[in-house]
Amino acid sequence: MSEDGRRLAYDRELAVGDGHEDVVREVVDVIVRTAPEIRGGLVGRRGAADGEGENPSGETQAEADVWADDLLGDRLSALEGVVQYASEERAEVVDCASSSSTGLSVAVDPLDGSSNLASNNPMGTIFGVYDAPIPAQGRDLVAAGYVCYGPITTMILATDDGVAEYELADGDATTLREDVRLPAEPTVYGFGGRVPDWPADFRTYAREIESELKLRYGGAMVADVNQVLSYGGIFAYPTLESRPEGKLRLQFEGNPIGYIVERAGGRSSNGRRSLLEAEATDLHGRTPVYVGNDGLVDRLEGALA
Ligand code: F6P
Repeated sequence: MSEDGRRLAYDRELAVGDGHEDVVREVVDVIVRTAPEIRGGLVGRRGAADGEGENPSGETQAEADVWADDLLGDRLSALEGVVQYASEERAEVVDCASSSSTGLSVAVDPLDGSSNLASNNPMGTIFGVYDAPIPAQGRDLVAAGYVCYGPITTMILATDDGVAEYELADGDATTLREDVRLPAEPTVYGFGGRVPDWPADFRTYAREIESELKLRYGGAMVADVNQVLSYGGIFAYPTLESRPEGKLRLQFEGNPIGYIVERAGGRSSNGRRSLLEAEATDLHGRTPVYVGNDGLVDRLEGALA
């Protein structure tokens, strides 16, 4: 039961190992309460942030990026069972452990795809709950999820038990789908980066996929992955000639999205192995990201070999 007595839809469904249920539920509760507020506060915050205006990865920060990070940072780091808060918008991990506390580490991308603010296209909030100090490997995740700010606000929540989808409104979560699985018959693909910047082996793979699936790409990973979860297919932000390390961040994007897609019955890869097995050396380290139906990700790894 939430603080004010409302029963949240995920209360009875959350199954997290090693006694972490309560902390994960509190983290999810903060996301459920804060996401509609973030959505409502986007109006008037679509412009560039004051000050330096760049995040630690050198990307332009919108006012909304900083504001969403402040909201989530304040609320998540205040939770008793959260010992670290890390954000794509902050250079360092925030240590929020009280002297006696042991607990979980939370990493968030407060507004994934915020370059879509200018054109008013979908965006998201991504969160990963790690049972390890950050930077951590994806296999240390005990839960992960994202909010998709589309025509309605939805949340995908993955635990070791599986994946569920909720509609968020007024601080409540209503279950839409209890067992989200990638459809067996894939339909869509979305690949990021400029085609001339793709390595030749990925370009060859992409040509094959183009003739089999339908292009659905919007420039915000959460929304693009949400299409793959809904229709089956593959999302990739590959290695680029100009950026061999890839674009997306392992802690904040690759790990949580890889965890979600794997729990939904699909595969994740950095081109060689599951994203969840990738070494986490740097808080803001980047990785190529390939997620989707098993067969498509297997073929991708074969094509890059
Ligand atoms: O990392 C943020 C992000 O906006 C992702 O959500 C998205 O997949 C990618 O960057 C798009 O980047 P670009 O428009 O530079 O290809």
